[in-house]
Amino acid sequence: MNFVIGIDIGTSGLKSIVVNKKGEVVDSHSISYKTEHPQSGYSEMDPNIWYKATLDSLNHLLSKFDKETISGISFSGQMHGLVVVDEDGKSIRPAILWNDTRTSQEVEDIKQAIGIETLLKHTQNTVLEGFTLPKLMWLKAHEPENYNKIHKFMLPKDYVVYKLTGNIYTEPSDAAGTIMYNIKSEKWSKEILNQLNIDSKICPDVIASHDRSGTLTKDIKEKLNIDWEINVYQGGADNACGALGSGITDETKQLVSIGTSGVALSIENSANYENDGNMHYFSHCVPNQKYVMGVTLSAGYSLEWLKQLIEPSEDFNTFLQDISKSKLGSNGLMYTPYLLGERTPYNDASIRGSFIGLDANTTQLDMKRSVLEGITYSINESIEIMRSKDIDIKEIVSIGGSAKNAEWLQIQADVFNVPITTRTEEQGPAYGAAMLAAMGEQWFNSFNDMNETWINYREHVSPISSHTESYEKLFNIYKLIYTATQPITKGLTQFK
Ligand code: XUL
Repeated sequence: MNFVIGIDIGTSGLKSIVVNKKGEVVDSHSISYKTEHPQSGYSEMDPNIWYKATLDSLNHLLSKFDKETISGISFSGQMHGLVVVDEDGKSIRPAILWNDTRTSQEVEDIKQAIGIETLLKHTQNTVLEGFTLPKLMWLKAHEPENYNKIHKFMLPKDYVVYKLTGNIYTEPSDAAGTIMYNIKSEKWSKEILNQLNIDSKICPDVIASHDRSGTLTKDIKEKLNIDWEINVYQGGADNACGALGSGITDETKQLVSIGTSGVALSIENSANYENDGNMHYFSHCVPNQKYVMGVTLSAGYSLEWLKQLIEPSEDFNTFLQDISKSKLGSNGLMYTPYLLGERTPYNDASIRGSFIGLDANTTQLDMKRSVLEGITYSINESIEIMRSKDIDIKEIVSIGGSAKNAEWLQIQADVFNVPITTRTEEQGPAYGAAMLAAMGEQWFNSFNDMNETWINYREHVSPISSHTESYEKLFNIYKLIYTATQPITKGLTQFK
């Protein structure tokens, strides 16, 4: 039997899975790590933590399989993070991550220098704090000595691929999230780079997500104690891999994925689609495909935050076990998940979250439920924009934390007012990474062939009409909170 390994380099941890030719997950391994927040709004990590976690995970898994049966590895990675290396390939400073919002000034400067229309024309996206371009500009302005040392920048998973193979590449799904890449021509945008005086030599070459980046170097093979070749395929952005691993390669189904962030995603392949900047519009990890996506910055992160405050030692199952005892609408309590600012639809790094409607009768369960509901309302704001763009939302595949809790799945079906489906082998983006390795290994002739064998669905949760009506009213109230609280939370920042 032959196997491939899919590795997801997430924000709070790394997850590796071993998958056989039938698409069955035969083994898995996870490692947690912590993001550093050296200042409010900062989010950083030493990229060698990802590299070391990858080696530990591979060591753990490879030792359990017969020689030569594992032939390919690929990756999924948190998007937008800026990793910079010098001439010797050494990481120059900690990576600046997707949920770091220090770059508001640079975002303004870029908009002034280039203009939103030009950005949309050349990249199909506007610029936001989380994206790679303003991080690079921040480095230029604040750490010129580091900026001047840059030989190449790359994205988080690309750094690990480089450490394993010695080769520096990226691929379309992560290049798209830099906002230096033209997703229509699938090339780095000379216009954007020239206008901002960025040397194109620091951009990595772009290969397809399932292209072979190389094989494990001799040094890595020694570290892993193996004497056979393993092919490494470049991999994809976590949301693209989450979509691929959920069978989302056409417009018939949409994806809702809740990890640290939360996303709603829909494939959009029409050649004449032009993005207006309300949503992200990125390249998929499947060649020539594109998707639109809205992002909630603190989705699973909100729940993790609440758990840390209330019951840090509990696992999520236990933490949420009685959630159905708090009724629909959380007994009049509402939560907005703006712990680190918000992306879609507000694109506001300075807004902060709130619990509204606290009452002498509010219980911990109401608070927990209101966090689940608040995350879901926030994602529904992205779904509402999709609907306004005539995207037909017929069925949503839900993956990540929200797919593991029956009550939360029902909340999603009721709030989104659409049937929710879950995957049989729900492994999040790591599964999409394994699919890229399997395609690279030529186990299948096409992504469609692979979908037929590998993708199965388990649960269908239908909306309950009385719930949907109540949630529509609640969602309309939720949408009032941003404008009402924006000046309040802004005023409060001076007391931090
Ligand atoms: C997407 C985004 C996040 C990260 C999380 O634009 O910033 O979903 O990819 O890993």
